[in-house]
Amino acid sequence: MLLASGFRLSVRSLMSRVVAVKGSYGQDVVEGLSQAPRSIPTYYLYDDYGSELFEQICIQPEYYPTRTERQILRRAAPEIASITKTRSLVELGSGSSSKTRLLLDGMVSYWEEQPVYYVPIDVSAGILERSAMALLDSYPTLTVQGLVATYELALADLPPVPDRLVAFLGSTLGNIPPHECDHFFAQVAEALAVGEYFLIGVDLQKDIAILEAAYNDQAGVSAAFNLNILNHLNRRFGGTFIPAQFRHYAPYNPTAHQIEIYVTSDREQTVTLGALSLSLHLSAGEKILTEVSRKFQVSELRSQLASLGFMTQGVWTDSQDWYAVMLLQKN
Ligand code: TRP
Repeated sequence: MLLASGFRLSVRSLMSRVVAVKGSYGQDVVEGLSQAPRSIPTYYLYDDYGSELFEQICIQPEYYPTRTERQILRRAAPEIASITKTRSLVELGSGSSSKTRLLLDGMVSYWEEQPVYYVPIDVSAGILERSAMALLDSYPTLTVQGLVATYELALADLPPVPDRLVAFLGSTLGNIPPHECDHFFAQVAEALAVGEYFLIGVDLQKDIAILEAAYNDQAGVSAAFNLNILNHLNRRFGGTFIPAQFRHYAPYNPTAHQIEIYVTSDREQTVTLGALSLSLHLSAGEKILTEVSRKFQVSELRSQLASLGFMTQGVWTDSQDWYAVMLLQKN
């Protein structure tokens, strides 16, 4: 536990429970790579270098989601503060906190001198502590209670701060596979009391060319980010992947309404992961899925959430209807 800034900051790590929940370390990699079609768990994209590359993706001209969400939040934040009268912002996947500030500004001006709370949740302790310290400097009435944890562990153990709003931004919802989505929503519902709020930012269905450009930027940052997952596996598990023998491939699947992000083997080859006693024989052109990014329709999401006990209290979009921020209340 870390305490600083006159006890306005505490950070608790739940990561030691990950192994207990997931079985032995690396077991999820063995499972994913052994299945047909092959896959690698998405969170291996986000080692330190991967997280840096992702920040670069967010400022590529083709990658519209980050800047579009920020525009929407800038406009919606005061309204969100006055509708919800929330006193505690819980953020899943807090990362760097520029969008957090838009929401906190709304809350702090609503509550004036009274205390407000921020509960950032991230698997990276470094990013979490750095951004929490910066926020404490800017907001004298703020108390931060961070959790270093996966979403699942954090939702099962949220601190009992008053009048909470759980924010899940960046269309990270789209990275949860469709068959796991209801379970995720149920976990959020379980974590909240009746009347508390859930705020999500989601990327919407649109022209295929725009979607595919966003995941295949000219500068090659998306490709570098995706292929870095192989370096990460090499380092963690004594692997022999040669990233130059793989290609970034990110097509839109119009039936499933999702971008599917793969690394494809450009030749027939055998790769081993020594620490996991795993040997893979890959054929030329064989694909390994690293992430899906679903694209939503507001009306559909609204009824899915309604059936799980969340009432939609507000929807904000940009002028082109490319992205939406939805405010939900647990009933
Ligand atoms: N959460 C991001 C998204 O769904 C992830 C992402 C953006 C990504 N660009 C990528 C993943 C390129 C792999 C490759 O938009």
